[in-house]
Amino acid sequence: MSSRRARLRDEAERVLRANWREGRRRDGVPYAFTCPATPRYRHQWYWDSCFHAIAWRHFDPARARAELRTLLRAGGLDGFVPHTAFWDRPARWRRAPFYGTRSVFGSTATATIQTPLLALAWELVAAASPDDPGFAREALPSLRRHYDWLHRERDPDGDGLLTIIHPDESGLDDSPKYDDVFGWMRHDSPGYWWLIERHRRLDYDARRVTDRYEEHLEDVLVNVCYALALRALARLEGAGAGERWLARAERTEAALLERCYDERTGLFLDLAGSRERRVAVSTWSALAPLALSALPTDVRVRLVEQQLLDRRRYGAPCGIPSVSREEPEFNPRFALWRCWRGPSWVNTSWLLVPPMRELGYEREADRIVASLEQAADRHGFREYYNPLTGRGLAARGFGFATLLVDLIFEPEVDASARTPMIQS
Ligand code: GLC
Repeated sequence: MSSRRARLRDEAERVLRANWREGRRRDGVPYAFTCPATPRYRHQWYWDSCFHAIAWRHFDPARARAELRTLLRAGGLDGFVPHTAFWDRPARWRRAPFYGTRSVFGSTATATIQTPLLALAWELVAAASPDDPGFAREALPSLRRHYDWLHRERDPDGDGLLTIIHPDESGLDDSPKYDDVFGWMRHDSPGYWWLIERHRRLDYDARRVTDRYEEHLEDVLVNVCYALALRALARLEGAGAGERWLARAERTEAALLERCYDERTGLFLDLAGSRERRVAVSTWSALAPLALSALPTDVRVRLVEQQLLDRRRYGAPCGIPSVSREEPEFNPRFALWRCWRGPSWVNTSWLLVPPMRELGYEREADRIVASLEQAADRHGFREYYNPLTGRGLAARGFGFATLLVDLIFEPEVDASARTPMIQS
């Protein structure tokens, strides 16, 4: 192991340990999770927790398991699992009105969702947990309820694609692809408060929201991760019982290809509003279907050749930019309250680098990982990095940047753990 890699490994573990929180909520419910970064992100976020658990499995699989169990516990018996859970402290008064909760004060979690990766994280953690052989199956009833909830509540038109009603439900809060869709109610504008208020009045019921309003979309990244998670759930169930989930994953993948794939540009575009208008803004979400190995190879290769490797678009000195360098909105620097508008985040590479390797782009994949290693070694694990200079930006000691460890090392216990993600 190079000394840089050894330093990064130690630092990743230090960050995860420093951000670990455990205790009991005021009503006695126990929790254990990693907060993304203090002081800004003190709570538990759905996809952050999935990423944290995937990183934790390299150091302390018991903590990885505890984090995922806590996430499930944040949800309801109906299978809903929230975007954010407030365990050890409520949202602070200045931030509280901007969380998608049922009431401004006193809610223990939001009523919104986040990119539903849980079953995939569960599978990866289970593969690193030979000391807890029951872990893989213990959550099956809850995971079934969760993915059935999403299928029932978040696919109002029944086309196999989940709908989001808040921009941050994808995890890509201020992405320029949402600018026109949410307009004056965008995540980074004061009007966002009204979007929340409106959804509170409709009880966050996606069917009622999509019947009445145009500000909603079928988001490519959300649906790629949904399909990956459904395939993971199918594998956790095993042959027979798994068929149901596999069929759902295939349906989502087919819908992505049939409805979101833009032949002209080779990108996968979100479908906005009731008329399902394609949102023609190139962000890394449009490349996410690369992670679906069931999609045609020529479509995936095109994403690599014409997008990821093209220096006018996503080819960059550090990581993979969150927005194409060609887009007028591309901004590689820090912008207050505006994230996902250009900088490189580690989870993007975590999703896209393994399929690049699978398709034979080893050298290019190595270069991307090495650029992030260099940036993290110089600037620490940061929320994101300037894709042109590698400079670390925004939060320090950021939890899911430690996913870099998962890109570099195989978990010590079970070297096959990553493989299922990109196989049918
Ligand atoms: C920011 C990110 C989102 C993440 C959250 C907590 O809002 O945009 O993806 O889940 O912070 O880290």
